Amino acid sequence: MNIYDIIEKKKHSEVLTKDEINYFVEGYTNGTIPDYQMSALLMAICIQGLDIDETYNLTNAMLYSGDTIDLSEIKGVKVDKHSTGGVGDTTSLVLGPLVAACDLPFAKMSGRGLGHTGGTLDKLESIPGMNINLTMSDFINNTNKIKMAITGQTGDVTPADKKIYALRDTTATVDNVSLISSSIMSKKIAVDTDALILDVKVGSGAFMKNVEEAEKLSKMMVELGHKFGRRTVAVITNMDEPLGLAIGNSLEVIEAIDTLKGQGPKDLTELCLVLGAKLLVLGNKCENEEVARELLQEKITSGEALNKFKEFVRLQGGDASYIDDVNKFKLSSIKKEVYSEKEGYVKSINALGIGEASKDLGAGRETKDSILDLGSGIMLNKKIDDFVKKGDLLATIYTEKSEEIEDVTKMIIDSYDIGEKNKEAYKLIIKEIY
Ligand code: URA
Ligand code: CA
Repeated sequence: MNIYDIIEKKKHSEVLTKDEINYFVEGYTNGTIPDYQMSALLMAICIQGLDIDETYNLTNAMLYSGDTIDLSEIKGVKVDKHSTGGVGDTTSLVLGPLVAACDLPFAKMSGRGLGHTGGTLDKLESIPGMNINLTMSDFINNTNKIKMAITGQTGDVTPADKKIYALRDTTATVDNVSLISSSIMSKKIAVDTDALILDVKVGSGAFMKNVEEAEKLSKMMVELGHKFGRRTVAVITNMDEPLGLAIGNSLEVIEAIDTLKGQGPKDLTELCLVLGAKLLVLGNKCENEEVARELLQEKITSGEALNKFKEFVRLQGGDASYIDDVNKFKLSSIKKEVYSEKEGYVKSINALGIGEASKDLGAGRETKDSILDLGSGIMLNKKIDDFVKKGDLLATIYTEKSEEIEDVTKMIIDSYDIGEKNKEAYKLIIKEIY
Protein backbone atom coordinates (compact mmCIF):
# COMPACT_ATOMS: atom_id res chain seq x y z
CA MET A 1 0.00 0.00 0.00
CA ASN A 2 1.25 3.50 -0.66
CA ILE A 3 -0.07 6.98 -0.13
CA TYR A 4 0.29 8.04 -3.77
CA ASP A 5 -2.20 5.39 -4.88
CA ILE A 6 -4.61 6.34 -2.11
CA ILE A 7 -4.57 9.99 -3.21
CA GLU A 8 -5.04 8.89 -6.83
CA LYS A 9 -8.00 6.71 -5.84
CA LYS A 10 -9.79 9.44 -3.91
CA LYS A 11 -9.09 11.93 -6.69
CA HIS A 12 -11.16 9.63 -8.93
CA SER A 13 -13.87 9.40 -6.30
CA GLU A 14 -13.26 5.75 -5.48
CA VAL A 15 -14.17 4.39 -2.05
CA LEU A 16 -11.21 3.87 0.30
CA THR A 17 -10.95 0.64 2.26
CA LYS A 18 -10.61 0.41 6.01
CA ASP A 19 -6.98 -0.66 5.62
CA GLU A 20 -6.19 2.31 3.38
CA ILE A 21 -7.77 4.69 5.87
CA ASN A 22 -5.89 3.16 8.80
CA TYR A 23 -2.70 3.35 6.73
CA PHE A 24 -2.84 7.09 6.05
CA VAL A 25 -4.05 8.03 9.56
CA GLU A 26 -1.26 6.00 11.17
CA GLY A 27 1.34 7.11 8.66
CA TYR A 28 0.52 10.79 9.04
CA THR A 29 0.38 10.61 12.84
CA ASN A 30 3.78 8.89 13.13
CA GLY A 31 5.38 11.15 10.55
CA THR A 32 6.05 8.68 7.72
CA ILE A 33 3.54 10.48 5.48
CA PRO A 34 4.55 14.13 4.93
CA ASP A 35 2.29 17.18 5.10
CA TYR A 36 2.20 17.67 1.32
CA GLN A 37 0.79 14.24 0.61
CA MET A 38 -1.70 14.44 3.44
CA SER A 39 -2.77 17.90 2.19
CA ALA A 40 -3.39 16.52 -1.29
CA LEU A 41 -5.45 13.67 0.14
CA LEU A 42 -7.49 16.01 2.37
CA MET A 43 -8.23 18.23 -0.62
CA ALA A 44 -9.34 15.20 -2.65
CA ILE A 45 -11.60 14.20 0.24
CA CYS A 46 -13.05 17.73 0.42
CA ILE A 47 -13.88 17.64 -3.28
CA GLN A 48 -15.01 14.01 -3.68
CA GLY A 49 -16.33 13.33 -0.17
CA LEU A 50 -16.41 10.23 1.98
CA ASP A 51 -19.37 7.90 2.37
CA ILE A 52 -20.65 6.88 5.79
CA ASP A 53 -18.49 3.72 5.99
CA GLU A 54 -15.35 5.63 5.07
CA THR A 55 -16.28 8.31 7.62
CA TYR A 56 -16.83 5.63 10.26
CA ASN A 57 -13.45 4.06 9.46
CA LEU A 58 -11.74 7.43 9.61
CA THR A 59 -13.36 8.18 12.97
CA ASN A 60 -12.30 4.78 14.23
CA ALA A 61 -8.71 5.21 13.04
CA MET A 62 -8.42 8.61 14.76
CA LEU A 63 -10.13 7.32 17.90
CA TYR A 64 -7.53 4.55 18.31
CA SER A 65 -4.57 6.79 17.45
CA GLY A 66 -4.19 7.62 21.15
CA ASP A 67 -5.57 7.15 24.65
CA THR A 68 -9.21 6.47 25.37
CA ILE A 69 -10.72 7.59 28.67
CA ASP A 70 -12.39 4.89 30.71
CA LEU A 71 -15.23 6.27 32.84
CA SER A 72 -16.84 2.94 33.69
CA GLU A 73 -16.33 3.67 37.40
CA ILE A 74 -18.83 6.50 37.21
CA LYS A 75 -22.18 5.21 38.41
CA GLY A 76 -25.30 5.84 36.34
CA VAL A 77 -25.85 6.93 32.76
CA LYS A 78 -23.07 9.46 32.09
CA VAL A 79 -23.97 12.30 29.76
CA ASP A 80 -21.88 14.68 27.69
CA LYS A 81 -22.60 17.69 25.55
CA HIS A 82 -20.81 19.22 22.59
CA SER A 83 -21.35 22.45 20.75
CA THR A 84 -19.87 23.04 17.31
CA GLY A 85 -18.89 26.49 18.51
CA GLY A 86 -21.02 29.54 19.03
CA VAL A 87 -20.56 33.07 20.29
CA GLY A 88 -21.53 33.91 23.85
CA ASP A 89 -22.47 30.27 24.31
CA THR A 90 -22.49 29.68 28.07
CA THR A 91 -24.73 26.62 27.85
CA SER A 92 -22.45 24.03 29.49
CA LEU A 93 -22.16 26.07 32.69
CA VAL A 94 -25.95 26.07 33.04
CA LEU A 95 -26.75 22.65 31.60
CA GLY A 96 -24.20 20.83 33.79
CA PRO A 97 -25.59 21.96 37.17
CA LEU A 98 -29.16 21.63 35.88
CA VAL A 99 -28.93 17.95 34.94
CA ALA A 100 -26.61 17.16 37.86
CA ALA A 101 -29.29 18.58 40.17
CA CYS A 102 -31.60 15.95 38.62
CA ASP A 103 -29.07 13.28 39.67
CA LEU A 104 -27.79 12.70 36.12
CA PRO A 105 -23.97 12.49 35.98
CA PHE A 106 -22.50 15.22 33.76
CA ALA A 107 -18.86 14.40 33.06
CA LYS A 108 -17.37 16.76 30.54
CA MET A 109 -13.96 17.29 29.09
CA SER A 110 -13.92 20.82 27.73
CA GLY A 111 -11.61 22.96 25.69
CA ARG A 112 -10.28 26.47 25.56
CA GLY A 113 -11.48 29.13 23.18
CA LEU A 114 -9.81 29.83 19.88
CA GLY A 115 -10.56 32.62 17.44
CA HIS A 116 -14.05 34.06 17.77
CA THR A 117 -15.51 31.25 19.89
CA GLY A 118 -15.01 31.00 23.63
CA GLY A 119 -14.11 27.94 25.66
CA THR A 120 -15.65 26.60 28.85
CA LEU A 121 -12.25 26.18 30.55
CA ASP A 122 -11.37 29.86 30.11
CA LYS A 123 -14.75 30.89 31.47
CA LEU A 124 -14.34 28.70 34.54
CA GLU A 125 -10.91 30.20 35.21
CA SER A 126 -12.54 33.56 35.88
CA ILE A 127 -13.59 32.04 39.22
CA PRO A 128 -10.46 32.31 41.41
CA GLY A 129 -8.95 29.01 42.50
CA MET A 130 -10.88 26.89 40.02
CA ASN A 131 -8.90 23.76 39.08
CA ILE A 132 -9.67 22.71 35.53
CA ASN A 133 -6.91 20.13 35.29
CA LEU A 134 -8.34 17.33 37.39
CA THR A 135 -6.60 13.99 37.70
CA MET A 136 -8.56 11.10 36.19
CA SER A 137 -9.41 9.79 39.64
CA ASP A 138 -10.69 13.21 40.84
CA PHE A 139 -12.72 13.57 37.64
CA ILE A 140 -14.39 10.22 38.32
CA ASN A 141 -14.73 10.68 42.10
CA ASN A 142 -16.17 14.19 41.80
CA THR A 143 -18.74 13.01 39.28
CA ASN A 144 -19.75 10.18 41.60
CA LYS A 145 -19.93 12.53 44.57
CA ILE A 146 -21.86 15.52 43.16
CA LYS A 147 -22.83 14.27 39.65
CA MET A 148 -20.75 16.86 37.90
CA ALA A 149 -17.18 17.56 36.84
CA ILE A 150 -15.60 19.62 34.07
CA THR A 151 -11.94 19.31 33.21
CA GLY A 152 -9.44 19.83 30.41
CA GLN A 153 -8.46 16.94 28.21
CA THR A 154 -6.14 14.52 30.00
CA GLY A 155 -3.84 12.02 28.35
CA ASP A 156 -3.03 11.90 24.68
CA VAL A 157 -6.52 11.70 23.18
CA THR A 158 -6.80 11.47 19.36
CA PRO A 159 -3.31 12.73 18.42
CA ALA A 160 -4.21 11.97 14.78
CA ASP A 161 -7.01 14.52 14.90
CA LYS A 162 -4.79 17.16 16.51
CA LYS A 163 -2.28 16.83 13.69
CA ILE A 164 -4.81 16.53 10.88
CA TYR A 165 -6.95 19.40 12.19
CA ALA A 166 -3.92 21.71 12.35
CA LEU A 167 -3.12 20.83 8.73
CA ARG A 168 -6.74 21.31 7.61
CA ASP A 169 -6.76 24.71 9.26
CA THR A 170 -3.95 25.93 6.99
CA THR A 171 -4.97 24.17 3.75
CA ALA A 172 -8.62 25.25 3.38
CA THR A 173 -9.86 21.74 4.12
CA VAL A 174 -11.88 22.32 7.29
CA ASP A 175 -15.36 22.60 5.82
CA ASN A 176 -16.16 19.04 4.80
CA VAL A 177 -18.97 17.26 6.62
CA SER A 178 -17.11 13.93 6.91
CA LEU A 179 -13.90 15.53 8.10
CA ILE A 180 -15.71 17.66 10.70
CA SER A 181 -17.87 14.72 11.87
CA SER A 182 -14.95 12.34 12.27
CA SER A 183 -12.88 15.00 14.01
CA ILE A 184 -15.56 15.85 16.56
CA MET A 185 -16.88 12.33 17.07
CA SER A 186 -13.47 10.67 17.47
CA LYS A 187 -12.77 13.02 20.39
CA LYS A 188 -16.22 12.44 21.89
CA ILE A 189 -16.17 8.66 21.50
CA ALA A 190 -12.68 8.52 23.04
CA VAL A 191 -14.26 9.58 26.34
CA ASP A 192 -16.62 6.79 27.19
CA THR A 193 -19.81 8.49 28.34
CA ASP A 194 -23.18 6.84 27.58
CA ALA A 195 -25.17 9.62 25.99
CA LEU A 196 -24.25 12.68 23.98
CA ILE A 197 -26.15 15.76 22.96
CA LEU A 198 -24.77 17.74 20.03
CA ASP A 199 -25.60 21.41 19.63
CA VAL A 200 -24.96 22.14 15.97
CA LYS A 201 -24.84 25.86 15.38
CA VAL A 202 -25.93 27.40 12.12
CA GLY A 203 -25.53 31.01 11.02
CA SER A 204 -22.96 33.75 10.74
CA GLY A 205 -20.95 32.74 13.79
CA ALA A 206 -20.87 29.03 12.94
CA PHE A 207 -19.00 26.55 10.70
CA MET A 208 -22.25 25.74 8.98
CA LYS A 209 -23.75 28.77 7.27
CA ASN A 210 -27.02 27.17 6.21
CA VAL A 211 -29.53 24.66 7.58
CA GLU A 212 -28.98 22.06 4.82
CA GLU A 213 -25.27 21.81 5.65
CA ALA A 214 -25.99 21.76 9.38
CA GLU A 215 -28.50 18.98 8.85
CA LYS A 216 -26.04 16.90 6.85
CA LEU A 217 -23.44 17.34 9.57
CA SER A 218 -25.92 16.51 12.33
CA LYS A 219 -27.16 13.36 10.61
CA MET A 220 -23.61 12.18 10.00
CA MET A 221 -22.58 12.74 13.62
CA VAL A 222 -25.71 11.11 15.03
CA GLU A 223 -25.22 8.10 12.77
CA LEU A 224 -21.57 7.81 13.82
CA GLY A 225 -22.59 8.06 17.47
CA HIS A 226 -25.06 5.22 17.00
CA LYS A 227 -22.51 3.08 15.15
CA PHE A 228 -20.21 3.43 18.16
CA GLY A 229 -23.04 2.48 20.50
CA ARG A 230 -23.55 5.93 21.96
CA ARG A 231 -27.03 7.38 22.50
CA THR A 232 -26.71 10.54 20.43
CA VAL A 233 -29.10 13.36 19.60
CA ALA A 234 -28.33 16.56 17.68
CA VAL A 235 -30.15 19.86 17.90
CA ILE A 236 -29.58 22.45 15.18
CA THR A 237 -29.67 25.89 16.77
CA ASN A 238 -29.59 29.39 15.40
CA MET A 239 -26.52 31.63 15.56
CA ASP A 240 -28.00 34.58 13.67
CA GLU A 241 -27.21 36.43 16.87
CA PRO A 242 -24.97 35.61 19.85
CA LEU A 243 -26.55 33.53 22.60
CA GLY A 244 -27.73 35.55 25.57
CA LEU A 245 -26.43 39.03 26.25
CA ALA A 246 -22.94 38.37 27.57
CA ILE A 247 -19.87 37.62 25.44
CA GLY A 248 -16.60 37.26 27.34
CA ASN A 249 -15.40 35.04 30.14
CA SER A 250 -16.37 36.59 33.50
CA LEU A 251 -19.41 38.19 31.88
CA GLU A 252 -20.63 34.78 30.68
CA VAL A 253 -20.10 33.16 34.08
CA ILE A 254 -22.24 35.90 35.63
CA GLU A 255 -24.84 35.24 32.93
CA ALA A 256 -24.77 31.51 33.73
CA ILE A 257 -25.34 32.28 37.41
CA ASP A 258 -28.27 34.57 36.53
CA THR A 259 -29.73 31.82 34.37
CA LEU A 260 -29.41 29.24 37.14
CA LYS A 261 -31.32 31.69 39.35
CA GLY A 262 -34.09 31.89 36.74
CA GLN A 263 -33.12 35.43 35.77
CA GLY A 264 -31.12 34.72 32.63
CA PRO A 265 -31.77 35.75 29.03
CA LYS A 266 -34.69 33.98 27.39
CA ASP A 267 -32.73 32.30 24.59
CA LEU A 268 -30.01 30.86 26.81
CA THR A 269 -32.61 29.64 29.29
CA GLU A 270 -34.65 28.01 26.54
CA LEU A 271 -31.65 26.27 24.98
CA CYS A 272 -30.60 24.86 28.36
CA LEU A 273 -34.13 23.58 29.03
CA VAL A 274 -34.37 21.96 25.58
CA LEU A 275 -30.95 20.29 25.75
CA GLY A 276 -31.43 19.35 29.40
CA ALA A 277 -34.81 17.74 28.76
CA LYS A 278 -33.31 15.60 25.99
CA LEU A 279 -30.44 14.54 28.25
CA LEU A 280 -32.83 13.54 31.03
CA VAL A 281 -34.75 11.36 28.59
CA LEU A 282 -31.54 9.92 27.08
CA GLY A 283 -30.31 9.23 30.61
CA ASN A 284 -33.52 7.41 31.59
CA LYS A 285 -34.36 9.97 34.27
CA CYS A 286 -37.64 11.06 32.71
CA GLU A 287 -40.28 9.42 30.56
CA ASN A 288 -40.63 12.30 28.13
CA GLU A 289 -39.36 15.79 27.47
CA GLU A 290 -42.38 17.61 28.95
CA VAL A 291 -41.91 15.94 32.30
CA ALA A 292 -38.17 16.54 32.06
CA ARG A 293 -38.64 20.22 31.34
CA GLU A 294 -40.87 20.64 34.38
CA LEU A 295 -38.31 18.93 36.56
CA LEU A 296 -35.55 21.22 35.26
CA GLN A 297 -37.67 24.28 35.87
CA GLU A 298 -38.33 23.10 39.41
CA LYS A 299 -34.57 22.78 40.01
CA ILE A 300 -34.16 26.42 39.00
CA THR A 301 -37.07 27.68 41.11
CA SER A 302 -36.00 25.73 44.18
CA GLY A 303 -32.42 26.99 43.99
CA GLU A 304 -31.05 23.45 43.70
CA ALA A 305 -29.46 24.11 40.31
CA LEU A 306 -27.61 27.17 41.61
CA ASN A 307 -26.53 25.22 44.70
CA LYS A 308 -25.21 22.48 42.46
CA PHE A 309 -23.09 25.01 40.61
CA LYS A 310 -21.68 26.24 43.95
CA GLU A 311 -20.97 22.70 45.05
CA PHE A 312 -19.15 22.07 41.78
CA VAL A 313 -17.08 25.26 42.10
CA ARG A 314 -16.14 24.43 45.68
CA LEU A 315 -15.18 20.85 44.91
CA GLN A 316 -12.86 21.99 42.12
CA GLY A 317 -11.15 24.47 44.43
CA GLY A 318 -12.97 27.62 43.30
CA ASP A 319 -14.12 30.50 45.51
CA ALA A 320 -17.88 29.94 45.75
CA SER A 321 -18.43 33.35 47.36
CA TYR A 322 -18.24 34.72 43.80
CA ILE A 323 -21.44 32.85 43.03
CA ASP A 324 -23.22 34.47 45.98
CA ASP A 325 -21.93 37.91 45.08
CA VAL A 326 -21.25 38.35 41.37
CA ASN A 327 -19.98 41.89 42.03
CA LYS A 328 -16.77 40.19 43.12
CA PHE A 329 -15.93 39.35 39.49
CA LYS A 330 -13.35 41.87 38.35
CA LEU A 331 -14.37 43.33 35.01
CA SER A 332 -11.95 45.29 32.83
CA SER A 333 -11.40 48.89 33.87
CA ILE A 334 -12.48 50.62 30.66
CA LYS A 335 -16.22 50.62 30.09
CA LYS A 336 -17.54 52.15 26.89
CA GLU A 337 -21.06 52.34 25.55
CA VAL A 338 -21.94 51.79 21.89
CA TYR A 339 -24.96 53.63 20.48
CA SER A 340 -27.10 52.97 17.46
CA GLU A 341 -26.69 55.18 14.42
CA LYS A 342 -30.00 54.00 12.95
CA GLU A 343 -33.64 53.57 13.82
CA GLY A 344 -35.56 50.37 13.20
CA TYR A 345 -35.84 46.76 14.28
CA VAL A 346 -32.85 44.52 14.91
CA LYS A 347 -32.98 41.96 12.09
CA SER A 348 -29.82 40.01 13.01
CA ILE A 349 -26.57 40.46 14.91
CA ASN A 350 -23.59 39.00 13.08
CA ALA A 351 -22.23 36.56 15.65
CA LEU A 352 -18.90 36.29 13.87
CA GLY A 353 -18.46 40.08 14.03
CA ILE A 354 -19.34 40.20 17.73
CA GLY A 355 -17.07 37.20 18.44
CA GLU A 356 -14.16 38.86 16.65
CA ALA A 357 -14.84 42.15 18.46
CA SER A 358 -14.84 40.40 21.82
CA LYS A 359 -11.58 38.63 20.92
CA ASP A 360 -9.97 41.97 20.02
CA LEU A 361 -11.00 43.38 23.41
CA GLY A 362 -8.97 40.63 25.09
CA ALA A 363 -11.60 37.94 25.67
CA GLY A 364 -10.37 35.53 22.98
CA ARG A 365 -7.20 34.10 21.51
CA GLU A 366 -5.55 35.25 18.32
CA THR A 367 -3.11 32.32 18.60
CA LYS A 368 -2.79 29.40 21.00
CA ASP A 369 -0.41 31.43 23.20
CA SER A 370 -2.45 34.63 23.54
CA ILE A 371 -3.07 35.71 27.12
CA LEU A 372 -6.69 36.45 27.93
CA ASP A 373 -8.19 39.33 29.87
CA LEU A 374 -10.98 37.40 31.59
CA GLY A 375 -12.79 40.60 32.60
CA SER A 376 -13.16 41.86 29.04
CA GLY A 377 -15.99 41.40 26.58
CA ILE A 378 -19.31 42.77 25.40
CA MET A 379 -22.75 43.08 26.99
CA LEU A 380 -25.47 43.37 24.38
CA ASN A 381 -28.37 45.63 25.18
CA LYS A 382 -30.47 44.88 22.08
CA LYS A 383 -31.35 41.57 20.45
CA ILE A 384 -33.24 40.44 17.34
CA ASP A 385 -36.75 41.96 17.02
CA ASP A 386 -35.99 44.76 19.51
CA PHE A 387 -36.83 48.26 18.31
CA VAL A 388 -34.01 50.80 18.51
CA LYS A 389 -33.90 54.54 18.05
CA LYS A 390 -30.89 56.51 16.91
CA GLY A 391 -28.69 57.05 19.97
CA ASP A 392 -30.08 54.04 21.89
CA LEU A 393 -27.60 51.86 23.73
CA LEU A 394 -26.71 48.80 21.60
CA ALA A 395 -23.95 47.30 23.71
CA THR A 396 -21.33 47.97 26.37
CA ILE A 397 -17.65 47.18 25.90
CA TYR A 398 -15.29 46.07 28.68
CA THR A 399 -11.56 46.14 27.99
CA GLU A 400 -8.08 47.21 29.08
CA LYS A 401 -7.10 47.94 25.48
CA SER A 402 -7.98 51.58 24.82
CA GLU A 403 -6.39 51.31 21.38
CA GLU A 404 -9.05 48.78 20.28
CA ILE A 405 -12.12 50.77 21.28
CA GLU A 406 -12.62 52.71 18.08
CA ASP A 407 -12.36 49.67 15.79
CA VAL A 408 -14.47 47.49 18.06
CA THR A 409 -17.19 50.12 18.32
CA LYS A 410 -17.42 50.09 14.53
CA MET A 411 -17.41 46.29 14.41
CA ILE A 412 -20.34 46.17 16.83
CA ILE A 413 -22.34 48.79 14.95
CA ASP A 414 -21.65 46.95 11.68
CA SER A 415 -22.72 43.62 13.22
CA TYR A 416 -26.20 44.97 13.95
CA ASP A 417 -28.50 44.73 10.94
CA ILE A 418 -31.24 47.26 11.67
CA GLY A 419 -34.22 47.86 9.42
CA GLU A 420 -37.73 46.54 8.80
CA LYS A 421 -39.12 44.08 11.32
CA ASN A 422 -38.40 40.46 10.37
CA LYS A 423 -41.42 38.74 8.81
CA GLU A 424 -40.87 35.58 10.80
CA ALA A 425 -40.15 35.33 14.49
CA TYR A 426 -36.60 34.27 15.41
CA LYS A 427 -36.41 30.52 15.72
CA LEU A 428 -33.73 29.40 18.15
CA ILE A 429 -34.27 25.65 17.84
CA ILE A 430 -34.30 24.86 14.14
CA LYS A 431 -34.33 21.09 13.98
CA GLU A 432 -33.81 17.98 16.05
CA ILE A 433 -32.01 14.94 14.66
CA TYR A 434 -32.42 11.55 16.35
N1 URA B 1 -14.33 21.16 15.49
C1 URA B 1 -13.53 20.09 15.50
O1 URA B 1 -13.14 19.61 16.56
N2 URA B 1 -13.14 19.56 14.34
C2 URA B 1 -13.52 20.05 13.16
O2 URA B 1 -13.14 19.52 12.15
C3 URA B 1 -14.35 21.18 13.17
C4 URA B 1 -14.75 21.70 14.34
CA1 CA C 1 -23.95 34.66 26.43
